[in-house]
Amino acid sequence: MLGQWTLDSKAQAPLGQSQDNWIPLTKDQVHDPRGPGLSELQDPGAGLFELPPHQSGNRVLWAKALDRGAISPRRSLTPNESSKVQVLDMDVLLDLRGSMAVVRFPHKIHTQWLACDNCHDALFKSKVGETKISMYNILQGEQCGLCHGSVAFPLTECSFCHSVERPAPKWRMSQ
Ligand code: HEC
Ligand code: HEC
Ligand code: HEC
Repeated sequence: MLGQWTLDSKAQAPLGQSQDNWIPLTKDQVHDPRGPGLSELQDPGAGLFELPPHQSGNRVLWAKALDRGAISPRRSLTPNESSKVQVLDMDVLLDLRGSMAVVRFPHKIHTQWLACDNCHDALFKSKVGETKISMYNILQGEQCGLCHGSVAFPLTECSFCHSVERPAPKWRMSQ
């Protein structure tokens, strides 16, 4: 198990997962430990510990789990609806002028889960540069922060988004 799900180019080392890495429902301070229905629910550790590990959020690398076929999420809440997911394999580079590493926004991973209209055009215009995206807005829970930090990996994972190193500014030296 250990080392099976390596993090490719990412900086973190893979962790060995055990069910003890998740807080059981009786101790999560969300569920009532005396609640009569609690025993009907699965503890997070029991369901998640075999998936590709990650050290933050809910401790699963969901994009990799999907990629490896370890999960196959439902396309829709209503079982009869034959909603098809349209996967778009297109990266967009954002934050081209900043000091942090450039942000690579992968359409592929997003469109494996999400229909286009989750983001277009209310959150982001379908044309690069038409939307003013900022880290300030993201940290306020808007734009990327609408999902990242709530239903997708947390904002503390800077290098997941800021993942493309900037080329060294050689032109300065030649002047
Ligand atoms: C969910 C994706 C995401 C995560 C996680 C994220 N950022 Fe950003 N960040 C962005 C985007 C998108 C922009 C681009 C805004 C733009 O186009 O200028 C940005 C811009 C910035 C900027 C301003 C431009 C620059 O490079 O100087 C800073 C500073 C920054 N981020 C720091 C951080 C730090 C520090 C973290 C981790 C604590 C972090 N970000 C995590 C998406 C993210
Ligand atoms: C999770 C959010 C999200 C989803 C879902 C999403 N996109 Fe995007 N899309 C973005 C972001 C962010 C940008 C870049 C916006 C910017 O630079 O201002 C973008 C940019 C684009 C662009 C502009 C590319 C360019 O070079 O100008 C097109 C076209 C596009 N998306 C089409 C789609 C289609 C088609 C789908 C569904 C198959 C889709 N997007 C799903 C977030 C999303
Ligand atoms: C509508 C919800 C939504 C929005 C908005 C959104 N994301 Fe995501 N993002 C997801 C989900 C869901 C995943 C897959 C689950 C995970 O990795 O936590 C994901 C995965 C990613 C990944 C892949 C991580 C990996 O494991 O390889 C990156 C990078 C990323 N998002 C960056 C961004 C950036 C940058 C923005 C804003 C421009 C953004 N996302 C906006 C929902 C969203």
